[in-house]
Amino acid sequence: MGQTSAGSGEGVAASYNPLDPEYAGRIQEVFTQAHREAPVFFSPLYNVWVVTRYDDIWTVLKDPERYSSSMSTNVVAKDHPEVLAILKQGWGQLSTLVTCDPPAHNRYRGLINKAFTPRRVNEREPFIRATANRLVDAFIDQGKTDLIWSFAYPLPMTIIADILGVADDDLDRFKRWSDDLVARLSFDLPKERLIECAHSLIEFQRYFDGLLKDREENPRDDMLTDLLNARIEGAEPLNRGEMLSMIQQLLVAGNETTTSLIGNMMSLLLEERDRWEALCADPSLAAGVVEEALRMESPVQGLFRVTTTEVELGGATIPKGAQLQLLYAAGNRDEAEFRKAEDFQMKRDNAATHLAFGGGVHFCLGASLARLEARIALETLTTRIPDVRLAADSSPQRIAHFFMRGFEHLPVEWPVEAAK
Ligand code: HEM
Repeated sequence: MGQTSAGSGEGVAASYNPLDPEYAGRIQEVFTQAHREAPVFFSPLYNVWVVTRYDDIWTVLKDPERYSSSMSTNVVAKDHPEVLAILKQGWGQLSTLVTCDPPAHNRYRGLINKAFTPRRVNEREPFIRATANRLVDAFIDQGKTDLIWSFAYPLPMTIIADILGVADDDLDRFKRWSDDLVARLSFDLPKERLIECAHSLIEFQRYFDGLLKDREENPRDDMLTDLLNARIEGAEPLNRGEMLSMIQQLLVAGNETTTSLIGNMMSLLLEERDRWEALCADPSLAAGVVEEALRMESPVQGLFRVTTTEVELGGATIPKGAQLQLLYAAGNRDEAEFRKAEDFQMKRDNAATHLAFGGGVHFCLGASLARLEARIALETLTTRIPDVRLAADSSPQRIAHFFMRGFEHLPVEWPVEAAK
């Protein structure tokens, strides 16, 4: 795949390097430069056309025929022969949901919608609240914690494990598989690690095949049973490989993203502490804060599409078969859509029109779960440790990732006597 026309994008292409440790601190600068100089530019470093304007991103999202999601993870996929040999022991890597286009996508999405329903999400609210409180109980008397590892990481993992019927005793294995399934999507993973991740995928498939067999024999009022029974008129029910592929996607798409959302949100609130105090004083701000945090610090900065024909977009001519990165994070800081886009506003009117969950047919399946978990996280932390601050003696550390934005560590502290 080559470049035919990149407009005047060379300057911004040179600035666009998400794997450079300095990049995380420069995103606003890079996005503004792109919006001004070349809203769609070609990055020779990553062999990808980067789309940065809110409207252009929507043009792509609304047109899956010309901008395909099929093979879109090839940008980071690994096909080492030893890895492929391990994967052959399982159900193979089917293309469902996020990596497939209509009309096949309609069937997958229609069937998963029968199982991953608003009822299943909303009925977990008491469990989410209890889990958040239990996590706080474990560190509240210490007066300090790394909020990522003690709270933001275990919360979504525990909730999705519960929704999927994973037994408490299996939670550690489940966490390892989940982390390894996400790790597979990183650039530059050494071969040994790729092999380890492939083994995790096979163990994960066998484990969930076992749970599905159990539900076939003993149906329950739960999501796996709903998945087995999911039917839509005129469409084949899901086979086992397809079910496993979808469960895999729930883990890959849902855990690290929600962890990052909670961490990003807490960092935004605590770095300007009057924001935190305003929220403690008026908890009804929480839902809007979640949206504005998603907009400002999008956990998924951008995902991929492939052109099925030559296209004109944002002043660039892009050849057929080219890889595109939809930089949702740049669309979310586009002045044409969000006034004073670089300001965090707790009551921004149109914050919820952000692109942090994508849009169109692939709009995030787990958006309502992520929103619920994030709101409960805020309600729990503002109530239990209202005097929390960023730790004075250690600094937050960001994760290094091509398209994720979040923290590896977020150390915080509070006076123990003020905690509840
Ligand atoms: C803050 C948390 C989350 C963020 C930022 C996020 C972001 C996204 C984005 C940007 C997409 C669009 C993909 C594309 O454009 O190709 C997406 C799709 C998806 N997300 Fe999420 N997600 C989050 C949480 C979750 C959760 C909790 C789950 C499930 C438990 C989930 C499951 C999915 C699935 C299955 C898709 C694919 C949908 C399809 O292709 O039809 N996500 N997500």
